[in-house]
Amino acid sequence: MALRILAVTSEAFPLAKTGGLGDAVSGMARAVHSRGPDITVMLPSYRGVRQRLLHASVIGHMHGLPGGDARLVKGLCPESGLDIIVLENDALYDREGLYLDESGKEYSDNAIRFAALSHAAARVAAGFPGVPGFDILHAHDWHAALAPLVLRQLGAKDVRTVLTLHNVAFQGWFDTSVAQQIGIDSDLWDNAGLMHGDCVNFLHAGITCADKITVVSGNYAQEILTPEFGCGLEELLRRRQDDIIAIANGIDVSVWNPVSDPYLKGSQFSADHLFNKSVCKRRLQETFSLEPDAESTVIGMGSRLTGQKMADVAAEAIPFLLDSHPGLQVCVIGCGEKHIEARLREIGDQYPGRCAVHIGYSEELAHLLHAGSDILLHGSRFEPFGLTPLYAMRYGTIPIGSRTGGMVDTIHDPGSVGTDEVMGLATGLLFDGDQVADIYNAIERALRLRSINTIWRRMQRNAMLRDFSWERAAPAYLHCYQALCSGRVEVVSPVLTASVREAKRTAAVRAGSRQIGISAA
Ligand code: ADP
Ligand code: GLC
Repeated sequence: MALRILAVTSEAFPLAKTGGLGDAVSGMARAVHSRGPDITVMLPSYRGVRQRLLHASVIGHMHGLPGGDARLVKGLCPESGLDIIVLENDALYDREGLYLDESGKEYSDNAIRFAALSHAAARVAAGFPGVPGFDILHAHDWHAALAPLVLRQLGAKDVRTVLTLHNVAFQGWFDTSVAQQIGIDSDLWDNAGLMHGDCVNFLHAGITCADKITVVSGNYAQEILTPEFGCGLEELLRRRQDDIIAIANGIDVSVWNPVSDPYLKGSQFSADHLFNKSVCKRRLQETFSLEPDAESTVIGMGSRLTGQKMADVAAEAIPFLLDSHPGLQVCVIGCGEKHIEARLREIGDQYPGRCAVHIGYSEELAHLLHAGSDILLHGSRFEPFGLTPLYAMRYGTIPIGSRTGGMVDTIHDPGSVGTDEVMGLATGLLFDGDQVADIYNAIERALRLRSINTIWRRMQRNAMLRDFSWERAAPAYLHCYQALCSGRVEVVSPVLTASVREAKRTAAVRAGSRQIGISAA
């Protein structure tokens, strides 16, 4: 029998996504699935999610969860082909946002909402009537991090657990009074790491209880052992060091592919045929009311507009850059902290035709941004992995990233000293620091390199041809799962299984597509 894995998460692309977590979970699950294991992704049934599933049906009712009784609904995600279980409790999840209300404040019951997810997932993994049990529960980030503790509370020793750390800056901290409301026995509050300092801390519990902990890049796995990046968890992480495995993320090369990207509307391009990249640039300029100047350098910024992403510093740097470089344009897509959004909007108004700011979330515009920009600015104070620069690279858009976290592993910058020639090996630029001058200088450096056409062209080509696919990361996850379950499950031949599964998936998607009238991919 193949390994059975339950991936528990608050986001899975395209059903629910606010950032890279959703992309990473779906990309990883697809890649693992194609190598043999049966993998089901479980997430909350946020508004509209159930309607996007094919063959959605209620498979059970769960009583006694934090926040009240809930339904389990199983279906198939037509885009990813993954089996999905959603936890349906409209009082908890049928809301406009995933985590925040309209004013940008966290929902006051987030502890209950995600404790319910962890409890339900642990009970499903341990064996719920009508659903065969799972060998592995794979929890992602703090939202699912209570699940290993709940399994311990249930005494479900047959289910092994993996916790992936996508970002330890978000830990699920809550007032101690919350401990009474989330269904955890009081004797486990301290023993199983639920309490950390004067708070309930979901991630602390997850790191304490999970059998293995994976981290989304090698460099970040080292960084989080230090007080600067560990955000208070460094001591616990050092204690668990023998169980920490760094597995760098990949990207879904079928979703982010300039050769076949439907969002490029007929203007697809490749490393050998870049002409249509300039068509995309023109379309980006038109869409954002930037001057239609093919000679200008367009700097794109597409990310959460938060302190993590140094968006506050970028907002300060942009006017200086626009003033000192008449040939420069800036295009920003994002949403996040209100004061940063407001400042960027102001700059957009001050520089019409040269700085465009779209506050909001749009998958389509994000694809156009990566395709049409010349440079992607991706400053970060910390960056566990950083998918956005990889998407940019694939579209021949040179990333300028901070020398931190995963970007150290993924952006190749041979250095600002030495000859320009050496930059012919680069895939992007890295900079240190979080001051306006740091961003300013990094962009000046990029503009100078861009003026040397042969070198820039080589950098684009290097970037576009780098293999960052999930296929490279999947074996490490498989190895981790198999090591945890050794002797308990038969390992199925990956090649055979992959083709059988792909055929099953295509048949299921086709059948579902006929039913709801969309065309099969
Ligand atoms: P993080 O997960 O920290 O936000 P990543 O770079 O790993 O950073 O992933 C961000 C993902 O979210 C990318 O897929 C990016 O395109 C997407 N994204 C962020 N903001 C927006 C937005 N406003 N509109 C569309 N996509 C966005
Ligand atoms: C987090 C991190 C980001 C990473 C993503 C996927 O949101 O901030 O760096 O790429 O998760 O793992």
